[in-house]
Amino acid sequence: MKIAIGADHAGFEVKEQLKNYLKDKGHQVADFGTYSNGSCDYPDYAFQTAKAVADKLCDRAILVCGTGIGVSICANKVKGVRCGLCHDLFTAKMCREHNDANCLAVGARVVELPVILQMVDVFLSTDFLGDKHARRIEKINKYEQ
Ligand code: RB5
Repeated sequence: MKIAIGADHAGFEVKEQLKNYLKDKGHQVADFGTYSNGSCDYPDYAFQTAKAVADKLCDRAILVCGTGIGVSICANKVKGVRCGLCHDLFTAKMCREHNDANCLAVGARVVELPVILQMVDVFLSTDFLGDKHARRIEKINKYEQ
């Protein structure tokens, strides 16, 4: 898969680990920054990263900030992006099965790296269930128009 990643300073170290992890698994990674742990503003990276999925340049996006909250708020303002703020394997699975999330947001100050990497595996390997869930996504899409 082609995966867009982005983070602020609080998520920088996790993003770097994630980049290596994804590349080792054979994914193509588009890194939208930030590129150091110097203080920065998460919207500057979250919008660009999410837009890569909306524009179909990437299949999925993964965003990291301190809590995951800021980047998820930004990503969900990008038309066509459904971003799930996840904290564990269950929410990572549900955001795919029920919400067809094309973006995962995680908090580097909330969830330990080994769990984040497992969540990423689940996020990338779980299929959308469709059916009644597709009807609900359609309602979101209609509102978004
Ligand atoms: C940065 O200190 C922090 O506010 C940010 O990473 C994020 O948690 C915001 O939602």
